[in-house]
Amino acid sequence: MAGAVAVAGAVAISMVAHRAVAQLGSAPALGAGGRRFESDQPDQFGVFCALSPFATRRSQPVASGGMSTQLVIISGASSGIGRSLVETCPYPSPTIIDLSRRGGGAAEHLFADLSTPAGWDTAQATFDSRVAGFEGDRVVFIHNAGTLNPIGFAGDVDQSAYQANVLLNSAAPQILGDAFLRAAAKTTARSDLVLIGSGAATKAYRGWSAYGAGKAASAQWALTVGLEQADQANGSHVWWIAPGLVATSMQADVRMSQEDSFPDVEMFRQLHEDDELEEPGVVAARLWAVLEQDHPNGAILDLRNLDWQPTGA
Ligand SMILES: NC(=O)c1ccc[n+]([C@@H]2O[C@H](COP(=O)([O-])OP(=O)(O)OC[C@H]3O[C@@H](n4cnc5c(N)ncnc54)[C@H](OP(=O)(O)O)[C@@H]3O)[C@@H](O)[C@H]2O)c1
Repeated sequence: MAGAVAVAGAVAISMVAHRAVAQLGSAPALGAGGRRFESDQPDQFGVFCALSPFATRRSQPVASGGMSTQLVIISGASSGIGRSLVETCPYPSPTIIDLSRRGGGAAEHLFADLSTPAGWDTAQATFDSRVAGFEGDRVVFIHNAGTLNPIGFAGDVDQSAYQANVLLNSAAPQILGDAFLRAAAKTTARSDLVLIGSGAATKAYRGWSAYGAGKAASAQWALTVGLEQADQANGSHVWWIAPGLVATSMQADVRMSQEDSFPDVEMFRQLHEDDELEEPGVVAARLWAVLEQDHPNGAILDLRNLDWQPTGA
């Protein structure tokens, strides 16, 4: 019975991105060089793709010539997926900045509580001083910071924690995204703005209301701003990418939830027991590879449904 629940749960989760087509609108999906992906599963754009096995080979630089420089800014690089994005960054000599509270990884750390206006100001100042006028060839901002806490029902959980959740998950992607675009307009480098999404954008989980609403809001923002940027001569490329189920502290927190605050907790415990969670390093490498693919500006993507290759393959 538990296995059946787990399978049903996994199927439900994997269908989330597919439903995004109907809910978030669709765009023509072409693979690299304009080809359509071939697959046995519809992706969120209604085309078909298949997962390739993960390869551990280090990627090649985006630009050739040996003199290229890349600036990468990641929010929430102190743990989980963000930290792994630092560790797997494929560029030859990147400058990597972490905007988070704890820091501690290999990136240059700037303290920012992104659930507060002061944290947003730190991000804005970083974009203004480091991105605007950047003379290298590529700038990437990955807004990865997010939180599920407080897990529990709206109207019941701690109110100030709920407000912080709304500010981090709903407001920060838009405010930081807007600030990044302003600075990116002042560099000739290619610029990529990546918002880390979640299947919770389109599937309602009791106990995750502010989290799911924030991810849905950021998806709509990415879709809209992607269209806007596509019309501009040196516009940024906007991405919304759901990572799938990943073995991070966020998932550990989920499994420790009480059933009255998160009724689906048993399904997530079972998924973990069944080894259904991906390692963050694998997911991070996939994400870097997908950034080398040809997708429409404002694409809503799910790493589980994409045909991807190691960067430079
Ligand atoms: N793990 C999954 O299965 C999964 C599934 C779908 C989507 N995601 C998304 O993936 C992203 C990364 O999550 P994760 O799984 O890697 O979780 P994680 O290990 O808990 O990492 C969360 C990161 O967000 C940062 N963060 C949280 N609150 C912040 C705040 N107020 N200000 C600044 N930074 C803050 C944390 O840094 P500090 O605590 O140091 O500030 C940490 O670096 C999130 O957007 C999450 O929604 C994860």
